[in-house]
Amino acid sequence: MNIKDEITALISDAVKTLGLDESGLVIAFSNRPELCDYQTSFAMMQAKKIGEKPIDLAEKIIKNIKKTAFFEFSAVMPGFINVKVTDKKLSEFCNEVAHDKHLGVEQVEKPRFIFFDYGGANVAKELHVGHLRSPIVGEALKRVHMAMGDKVLADVHLGDYGLQMGLTILQLKLDGFLDEFFDGKRTDFENISTFHITLDILNDEYPKASKRKDTDETFKAQADEFTLFIQKRVEPYYTIYKKIRALSVAEIEKNYQLLNATFDFYYGESDAEPFIDETIQIFVDKGLARESEGALVVDVAEEGEHIPIPKKSEDEPQRYKNPMPPAIIKKYNGGDLYATTDIATILMRNREFLPDEIVYVTDNRQSQHFVQVFRCCKKAGISPEKQKLTHVAFGTMNGRDGKPFKTREGGVVRLKEVVNLLVDKAEEKLASNGIVGDSELARRIGVGAMKFGDLSNTVAKDYVFDIDKFLSFDGKTGPYIQYTIARINSILAKANFKGGNVDVQTQEERDIVLAILKLNSSYKLSYDAYSMNSLCLSAFDLASAFSTLYNNHKILAEQDEHKKRSLLALCVLVKKCLEKALWTLGIDSVEKM
Ligand code: ARG
Repeated sequence: MNIKDEITALISDAVKTLGLDESGLVIAFSNRPELCDYQTSFAMMQAKKIGEKPIDLAEKIIKNIKKTAFFEFSAVMPGFINVKVTDKKLSEFCNEVAHDKHLGVEQVEKPRFIFFDYGGANVAKELHVGHLRSPIVGEALKRVHMAMGDKVLADVHLGDYGLQMGLTILQLKLDGFLDEFFDGKRTDFENISTFHITLDILNDEYPKASKRKDTDETFKAQADEFTLFIQKRVEPYYTIYKKIRALSVAEIEKNYQLLNATFDFYYGESDAEPFIDETIQIFVDKGLARESEGALVVDVAEEGEHIPIPKKSEDEPQRYKNPMPPAIIKKYNGGDLYATTDIATILMRNREFLPDEIVYVTDNRQSQHFVQVFRCCKKAGISPEKQKLTHVAFGTMNGRDGKPFKTREGGVVRLKEVVNLLVDKAEEKLASNGIVGDSELARRIGVGAMKFGDLSNTVAKDYVFDIDKFLSFDGKTGPYIQYTIARINSILAKANFKGGNVDVQTQEERDIVLAILKLNSSYKLSYDAYSMNSLCLSAFDLASAFSTLYNNHKILAEQDEHKKRSLLALCVLVKKCLEKALWTLGIDSVEKM
């Protein structure tokens, strides 16, 4: 049942009876809930066109609406049509939704197949705060598509092919960790069982190498060469690489599990390798690639972006204003680049899956990269015209000082440390509620707090990581919603509820049902915006509407049996709706807290 559609149909019929054009009719939730539930300014817009007073037209439309027991219509100055949904209708809605497997969440008309690319951690590097947002945002976007009936697949697309691998192996070699591979005594590298590199070693070696490359050119050149060896699968580099990759991926997976981010594929950039030569050939064959300073590039600038600045002399190189730089698809040394692996990955995904849309979730510093990659793919026909390629660019998570979140000493905070911080804080809070020693519960609350704090912002915006605010049990937070569910659980545990229908009677109950209606429509808003903020806020509003009822009414002590059953049925429905919203956000529900 879609209440908004029903209202639209009723008003639309009336408008047609009057011989008017109903096409601009939009029904919205009321912004004056004390007056009505829905409203439309249609009469005001239409009146101008036909030279009538808006309020008169509104009255006329209402007179022509078919009589119904479900809605009450009224015309108010200057020409709004206000709609109140009757208690009877709200009750029916509840009882229908309670039995709907989608809990009334509207399904897309034509399900599409969406391929999600998020996570994207780089192998051999420890995950840090900067890696939090992509799995949080990506997982939720994927789930809102699932909730609305699309088919989805997700690939973590690890950064396992870049310079960091060459740097790490070079540093390990220099520090004597790889002697067995390089002493010339053996070639069965796969069997070297004494490979004793650990995560701790990697955590030391990579930063060391990364620092050194900035000042030591020979070192950097050698790392470039090592990277190329890995990409060309030269031994023993390739085997060492694989061993480091495996070690690192296991750790990355654990980190993502902590955050409830789940993937269908743990592919990486390197998995596109078999498609790289073909990709480059496509650009060459189609005449889309040109050589520039020894590299192969593809021009992707469009009209208006690539404005030549007049040359002062003949031999001066051509410069451009606001250029969208060409995409480099092959490096001077033949090495593969980030853009190339991304384009080749699209080729690979399209060969195997041909999704209707591919969605990438990274921070906004990669915006230009994706414009280049997408344009390359469209130009070369690697992505068919009708395939949508979307980059969801998120802002930075800042500390309270408004600068990117750092340790007290100004260092990078490890992802695990952030999670530990959240979990410790959640444990403290639980302890003050008399719950101790439940570390899984603390994880659910701590991580849920973080995720809700993140997702309740518009995705593109920077936001402040404020652990106390996120973890408050009575603010606009994840824990507040979890707490509401826990309260309902505790009522239901005591109630011995055997089922029954909702019979809406009071304003407080109406407010809850209207909050459910709003929550249900926020799925589509979040879906369309690629941003979960509407869903977060309406889930909070529902929890808050429920708390008003809870605080003012002792449900378990209700004497009227019919009324009590109705309230309990409403409790069950609110719980289900909140759990579904949390699931969609990638946040765990809790039994108690
Ligand atoms: N590994 C990349 C990074 O750390 C993110 C990968 C995003 N996905 C992609 N297909 N490029 O910046």
